[in-house]
Amino acid sequence: MPALTPDPGFGIYFHWPFCLSKCPYCDFNSHVREGVDHARWQAALLTELRTFAARVPGRTVTSIFFGGGTPSLMPPSLVAALIAEVHKLWSVAPNVEITLEANPTSVEAAKFRDLRAAGVNRLSLGVQALDDAALKFLGRGHSATEALAALDLARGTFDRFSFDLIYARPGQTPESWAAELKRALDLAGDHLSLYTLTIEANTGFAGAVKRGEWTPPDGDAVAGLYDATQETLSAAGLPAYEISNHARPGGESRHNLVYWRYGDYVGAGPGAHGRLQHDGARHATQQWKRPERWLEAVEAAGHGSETTELIDADAAAREALLMGLRLAEGVWFENFRRATGRDLLDSVDAAALKRLVDGGLLARDAQRLIATPAGRNLLDGVLKSLVV
Ligand SMILES: C[S@@+](CC[C@H](N)C(=O)[O-])C[C@H]1O[C@@H](n2cnc3c(N)ncnc32)[C@H](O)[C@@H]1O
Ligand code: SF4
Repeated sequence: MPALTPDPGFGIYFHWPFCLSKCPYCDFNSHVREGVDHARWQAALLTELRTFAARVPGRTVTSIFFGGGTPSLMPPSLVAALIAEVHKLWSVAPNVEITLEANPTSVEAAKFRDLRAAGVNRLSLGVQALDDAALKFLGRGHSATEALAALDLARGTFDRFSFDLIYARPGQTPESWAAELKRALDLAGDHLSLYTLTIEANTGFAGAVKRGEWTPPDGDAVAGLYDATQETLSAAGLPAYEISNHARPGGESRHNLVYWRYGDYVGAGPGAHGRLQHDGARHATQQWKRPERWLEAVEAAGHGSETTELIDADAAAREALLMGLRLAEGVWFENFRRATGRDLLDSVDAAALKRLVDGGLLARDAQRLIATPAGRNLLDGVLKSLVV
């Protein structure tokens, strides 16, 4: 019997754009500010949420995600107010997943219990590395001991938790990474995010590399570490369900699955983006990135959208493939049709599809198009030839 196509769900994303300091690798929309007016931010986030709810009423929320920036700096009462408002504006699935990204400093760990009481049921901890020298290199404000204590507390406080590590750091050998990974597996809950270090433009690391202060590992070394990571994690029962994300079966981040299955989600807060189907069309929303600009826009107009664009069928098809082929499960034909109004097989270059299937980069069954592990490694090229 064919498997049931999974429902992508409907998610709410809140972006909290503040951090205590800027990490040298990070190009997320994060800003260091002295003194944040929490009452003003709470009011603005609530206002923007209500504006979105008026556009897409009547949905059932399956996940809420507080990302950043550093959302563990939010007062728990603010988190509680936003969750309560989501309950007022929409119906909420009984098993709703409510995730908050936290930095593992002791000050933030002290808030875990209050965040749990506010309704957060899943914590995603930015551990990044398990030794102090690497943490110092990554410019993190916490030690390995603090990270371990935060993990312990997360395990005892939340239903589910995940943590992030960054690997393929300069000087990291396959042996040292294997040892770190083994420790990580001993500490893991139902989910791990393992990212290879990317040198993003206009970051501290981009400057350091340009000045020749250090050299990132070359492509072959990174690929070797990546392949070893996939093998180790599969053997340990947390296979990759997405390029950098690993879970025990059922432990996947339901919120991130909304994005990758190309479902609808509200994006509130500076720099957040959303995808919403209403008035017979799919819309992309993009919020102002600079915190002050966003705040003023919300106070003036009820929302901080810099742009709201219609996504035509071509663009939707491209996005649905771009997101879905990251997943080990691939793109479900039925979800593709629901989001784009088209059949997947009519939206791709038939000759390229055959070539990619014959070459072992893509596979298809009656319900899905799937990028094989080799195909997922070469996803940019696969998409370029596939999408007409
Ligand atoms: C929004 S950030 C983290 C949130 C939280 N403020 C923290 O630092 O833990 C999400 C994750 O992306 C990863 N990340 C960010 N920039 C990266 C880069 N340049 N290369 C690899 N991973 C990166 C990190 O693991 C980070 O935890
Ligand atoms: S990695 Fe996290 S703490 Fe560091 S600057 Fe980015 S968002 Fe802030």
